[in-house]
Amino acid sequence: MALAAAVLPLPAAAQPPSQPPPLPPLAEEVPFITTPDNVTLALLRLAGVRRGDHVIDLGSGDGRIVITAARRFGASGLGVEIVPELVARSRAAAASAGVAAKAEFLEQDLFKTDLSRATVVTMYLLPEVNLQLRPALLALAPGTRIVSHDWDLGDWLPDETLVVDAPAKTIGREKKSRLYRWVVPAPLAGLWCGDGGLQWRISQQYQFVQLSWQQGPRGWTLPGRLDGAALQLVGAAPGPLRWQARGDELVAGAQRLRRRGGEGC
Ligand SMILES: C[S@@+](CC[C@H](N)C(=O)[O-])C[C@H]1O[C@@H](n2cnc3c(N)ncnc32)[C@H](O)[C@@H]1O
Repeated sequence: MALAAAVLPLPAAAQPPSQPPPLPPLAEEVPFITTPDNVTLALLRLAGVRRGDHVIDLGSGDGRIVITAARRFGASGLGVEIVPELVARSRAAAASAGVAAKAEFLEQDLFKTDLSRATVVTMYLLPEVNLQLRPALLALAPGTRIVSHDWDLGDWLPDETLVVDAPAKTIGREKKSRLYRWVVPAPLAGLWCGDGGLQWRISQQYQFVQLSWQQGPRGWTLPGRLDGAALQLVGAAPGPLRWQARGDELVAGAQRLRRRGGEGC
């Protein structure tokens, strides 16, 4: 197993996220291919799954990801799958693994699945299906972890990438799997106002932000990066470099900025 990449560079300028492509053909065309056991473990470890997590596997196949999350990591989980026979097989496998109470399986279209309970979302789908899911994934609670086997999320760059040997993989000649992890960033784009005339404008592209403010006649900008709701500014700011997003507030110790809808503070 080799760690391929971890820290990504900040993009030159924060741009609004690109639009996803039109709906893919039929999502049913995602074939049933299993994630090998060692890759399943690596994927769940990459997501940092632990007791208290709720893992939703989109297109759960024979249920192995949700069952492993329950059996090895103590998490609860839901697998959604459109092939009835695979749902029945998953439920039987969960029962024989002794985790039927923690690992639920539904015969359901993944695009119609309520993801709001997920603290972790897992996927082994196709690139265009991932892109169609992206808006729903970005709308999840900040801090939700998303992991994907082999396919990324387009211009939403992963927070971490891992390449693992996959000798049991049934497709491809390389016998390696690429694993990606994202943490849903808090939505921060807009105007933020604090005490003493503090006024920030934030533009955002996924986890990357650009902060601008005026000091006298001069304008300043600073890049920053989000890990869920935690904002880390990079460089010399006139104040704290670490902030926490709490809904419509940005908090650093006793300092507080509030989101404003209008043009000025
Ligand atoms: C590549 S397999 C992955 C199986 C499992 N997650 C794993 O990693 O071992 C993708 C699964 O998605 C299912 N699938 C395809 N389209 C779906 C849809 N619209 N809703 C739910 N499941 C779907 C397929 O039947 C298939 O079992």
